[in-house]
Amino acid sequence: MGISSLKGGVGKTSVTLGLASAALSAGTPTLVVDLDPHADASTGLGVALTHPQQEIGRQLKAGRRGDLEANVQPSPWASRSERDAAVLDVAVGGSYGTVYDRPDLRPRDLRRLKQLLDKTSKYDLVLIDCPPSLNGLTRQAWTASHQAVLVAEPSLFSVAGTERTMRAIDMFKNEFTTPLNSTRVVANRFRESSTEQRFRLSEMRRMFSSHLMNPVLPEQPDWQQIQGAAYAVHQWPGEAAKQTAQHFDQLLASLLGTQQKRPRTRGVPAASTTA
Ligand SMILES: Nc1ncnc2c1ncn2[C@@H]1O[C@H](COP(=O)(O)OP(=O)(O)OP(=O)(O)O)[C@@H](O)[C@H]1O
Ligand SMILES: [Mg+2]
Repeated sequence: MGISSLKGGVGKTSVTLGLASAALSAGTPTLVVDLDPHADASTGLGVALTHPQQEIGRQLKAGRRGDLEANVQPSPWASRSERDAAVLDVAVGGSYGTVYDRPDLRPRDLRRLKQLLDKTSKYDLVLIDCPPSLNGLTRQAWTASHQAVLVAEPSLFSVAGTERTMRAIDMFKNEFTTPLNSTRVVANRFRESSTEQRFRLSEMRRMFSSHLMNPVLPEQPDWQQIQGAAYAVHQWPGEAAKQTAQHFDQLLASLLGTQQKRPRTRGVPAASTTA
């Protein structure tokens, strides 16, 4: 599943991390692909490169010859999990990937990530955290994903940008071969007390109707602290974190419920986050 958005800072990485936390808590073997050269998801999951070849950009370059499973880092979240043999791996992000972030990537290059993922067999879920653009890296995520998750804040620019992203996905689907069969929108950082945000949220419900997911994610006061500590929200103490964890459980269940299962041998249902 690819998690993306045209706009930066709306919560793509946060949603990726929340879904990864929910998947870990549910015992779903999961790979997070950090496609953003900024590598925020890798930081949040507590991993860093131990060898240059692990960087996702280098694996993309290797293409068919690449071996993603041999070049991932296990997240320390998994070792803190109460589950035995929990699997949460990360294909680590980095600046090398920017060579594939051109707007005019050839179809052959668009398939690089898909080729890598098709060779994996360890994971039941792949979450792809995209950079804040609709260039080559995000398009590679769409080429490899069954679902696109768009993250939007209930604000004018974010809602308008999400609408444009949905149109871009439709055009992409017409032009290129992709397993993408659903596009969902997650509303993030909702402040109930703001009249403007309540208005924008109702606008989002009208515009995106069944694409808009439930629940809406509220502004969460200790979110930055949890991410700064590289912790899974399910492993963080307190009532607020517990509620957020439940929201992500519901989002994940809803995403997996609509996801078309791929045969285990061909890899994983993948989702990319875009904003
Ligand atoms: N629901 C929330 N409540 C409070 N803070 C949030 C929430 N969602 C995201 N944030 C904070 O907003 C900031 C931006 O979030 P995040 O990095 O997830 O966005 P992004 O879309 O991945 O950004 P970029 O486009 O730079 O990759 C982070 O500091 C994050 O902790
Ligand atoms: Mg991000």
